[in-house]
Amino acid sequence: MLSIKKINITQFKNYESGRFEFDGNVVGICGKNGIGKTNLLDSIYYCCFTKSYFSGNENMIIENGKDGFRLEGSFSNNEVSNKIICINKSNAKKEFSLNDVPYDKLSQHIGLLPCVMIAPDDIELINGGSELRRKFMDTVLCQLDKNYMQSLIHYNKILLQRNSYLKKDFSAQKFDYALLDIFDEQLIEHVNIIYAKRKTFTNELAQLVQEFYKKISEANEAIELVYESHLNEQSLADLFKQNRERDRMLQRTSKGIHRDDLQFSMHQLQFKNIASQGQKKSLLFAMKLAEYEIIKSTKGFSPILLLDDFFEKLDENRMNNLLKIVCVENQGQVIITDTHKSRLLNVFEKLQIKGQIIEL
Ligand SMILES: Nc1ncnc2c1ncn2[C@@H]1O[C@H](COP(=O)(O)OP(=O)(O)OP(=O)(O)O)[C@@H](O)[C@H]1O
Ligand SMILES: [Mg+2]
Repeated sequence: MLSIKKINITQFKNYESGRFEFDGNVVGICGKNGIGKTNLLDSIYYCCFTKSYFSGNENMIIENGKDGFRLEGSFSNNEVSNKIICINKSNAKKEFSLNDVPYDKLSQHIGLLPCVMIAPDDIELINGGSELRRKFMDTVLCQLDKNYMQSLIHYNKILLQRNSYLKKDFSAQKFDYALLDIFDEQLIEHVNIIYAKRKTFTNELAQLVQEFYKKISEANEAIELVYESHLNEQSLADLFKQNRERDRMLQRTSKGIHRDDLQFSMHQLQFKNIASQGQKKSLLFAMKLAEYEIIKSTKGFSPILLLDDFFEKLDENRMNNLLKIVCVENQGQVIITDTHKSRLLNVFEKLQIKGQIIEL
């Protein structure tokens, strides 16, 4: 089983310094608003992903007024210990090491310590723009498949070059279609890999989402999930060829897997337009649990599950169904935050689990 055993936090967000030890499968973290519950989960997430779940801006993560942070996480997976050290100084390259051996590239670390976070703002995955759903697919697939991650890194890099070429001023020079051909050829190679893997992944995801949604909601609303991609209808070579002039006019690449999306529907209608708040939350959990399940079955062990403000979300029935799934049926480590210790204790008692409580 994969679990985090210890974490030492220095100058990370509101933590000047903190040491936490985790023992067992289910850990409840409690404390009042603003004390650092979410930040503690984020420090664990950081050790798994080499970045924050919440903020892309590293300067926001360093404690105010300080010039860097350090994290040291001790993980164990089937008796194998992994010590992660991350040192991030504001003006230097981020250092990340595994058992005291520094990584050349941060991407080498992705997938070693799989982890799934569920936080309140994640509801945007259902309500928000397509970018978040692509990020969701990429986060899962990058942890599971190095080839996918490499293709995605290359695709994004070449796409950036293609777009910046399209943005150039061509009043004095001729547009070089041959150069565009070269970009296109390079992109196509990676797209075929990314598209195929997203397709397989979303097929599996759709099925699991339906199952989990039913389990959580005890309802018969059938949820459909469809993978939308320009590639569903046409090859990228054709798409690029057909849209050349349009791309020149728009000064960006209009077609490709960077526009993919996941479409949810209920009773043949677009889910986000008709679903209630609770139904949306249930779908969010179903998505995340499906993610969890796919990682677990591919890796052969459960990812760490981080549940932020878990109890603020659902009615009692749905909550109980969920807790049973995450704390009893799965065999991985779960870390749950809540403002109320008593609520966590009640849950542990009701489910007859021996949970650890950390009071901040
Ligand atoms: N870079 C930073 N430097 C110092 N403090 C920070 C930094 N970033 C965030 N904080 C502080 O961290 C605190 C928030 O911590 P966190 O979000 O973990 O609280 P929480 O316990 O999850 O609260 P809630 O119950 O409201 O969700 C805030 O007081 C915020 O000002
Ligand atoms: Mg919080």
